[in-house]
This record gives sequence, C-alpha cells and structure tokens, in this order.
Amino acid sequence: MLSTIRTNKLLTTMLPKIVFVLGAPGSGKGTQCQNIVKEFGFDHLSAGDLLRAERQTPGSPDGELIEQHIKEGKIVPVEITCRLIEKAMNVSKNDKFLIDGFPRNEDNLIGWNKQMSEKVQLLFVLFFECDEKTCTERCLSRGAAGSGRSDDNIESLKKRFQTYQNDTLPIINLYDEQGLVKRIDANGSPSAVFDLVKVVFNDVLSKGDN
Ligand code: C5P
Ligand code: MG
Repeated sequence: MLSTIRTNKLLTTMLPKIVFVLGAPGSGKGTQCQNIVKEFGFDHLSAGDLLRAERQTPGSPDGELIEQHIKEGKIVPVEITCRLIEKAMNVSKNDKFLIDGFPRNEDNLIGWNKQMSEKVQLLFVLFFECDEKTCTERCLSRGAAGSGRSDDNIESLKKRFQTYQNDTLPIINLYDEQGLVKRIDANGSPSAVFDLVKVVFNDVLSKGDN
C-alpha cells in the first residue's frame, strides 16, 4: 500500500508542473508571468495570447468564433482553448508552465479535468487580487498605448469584468476550498507585486517534493 502511494507520488512528480494564473483583466497576469519566466524558468502559456494567435492563423476554422467571443468578453469553448494549450505544452522542451487566464469558467474547468488534469502536476493557483478601478485604468492605458487589442475599450471591459465576476471567481473559490490558491495583492507597482510573487515561488519550489 505504502509503496503504491510512493510510486504514485513519484510518477506525479515526473509530470510537467503547472501553475494556473488567474485574476481580473488588467490585474497584471501577463506582466508578472514575464517576470516569473525570467526568474524561475517557467514557460508562459497565455490562453488569451494563444486564442489571439489562432484567430490570426490563415484558414483557421475557429478564427471568426474566437474574435466574436473576445470582443464580447465571452469565454471560448474549452475544446478550442485546451487543444491550443496542450499543443503548446507538447511543442515546448520545458517541464514547468504558467497557464495564464485559464480555467476561466466551468466549461474550461470540466474540459481541462477531462483532457489534461492527469497529464500534469498542478502546483497551485496564483491569484492576482486587484481593484476594478485600477484594472480598468491599466487596460485603458494599454489600449491607448497601442495594444491593438479589440477588447481594451470600456464597452468590452465592462463585459470582461462581468464574466470575471460571474464565471471566473467561482472557479477560484473552488480551488481555494482545496487549499490550492496563493493570493497576491496586485494593486501595487509591477516590481512591488513581483516581490510578493517571488516569496510564493521561492516557498513552493524550495519544498523539495515539487
Ligand atoms: O486573458 P486575456 O485578457 O488575454 O483574455 C482575453 C480574452 O480571451 C477573454 O476576454 C476571452 O474572450 C478570451 N479567453 C477565453 N478563454 C480563456 C482565456 C481567454 O475565451 N481561458
Ligand atoms: Mg493577459
């Protein structure tokens, strides 16, 4: 019995490690992921970036559907998003991944659990908590600075926040009940927030069984 548990644990620790990164639009997920990549050697897979790239791919059968969902702040069906994430993981030589902006709703969670959860070791969920006002200002200035995103405008942002409140927060709460959520106060400057992020990663990665 004990040896079975040990073997399972050993097998689990050989799987690719993942951290889900969640938070409202503009909470700094992408910015902090770039810092984590440099400091801790993870690969950064942003579900939003993967969807935007797929939308641009000539001949993609999903391009139009993705654009409509992004503009409306709605969540794309998980079959599409999960396929893009799995493909990106398979192409990578890395064995640790930040999965940014996923799982965003129940459909994402169910699809992931069906297709991927047994192929990875989920370390924790990094949750950036940030006031809506600060998040909105960040997204609007990103839009004004030429992000080129069709959803960095006030109309899309209102819908994105609604989706976040109604669909994503309940998923974060589910992980929280399992003790998997690490909360970060994300209202500060990028470097102040990264100081908090570093504490979390140093702590988790120093506990040898990861
Ligand atoms: O995370 P990001 O802000 O880049 O996401 C932009 C948009 O991409 C979301 O508002 C949503 O329309 C789409 N998306 C999705 N499913 C995800 C992540 C993003 O449909 N898991
Ligand atoms: Mg992002």
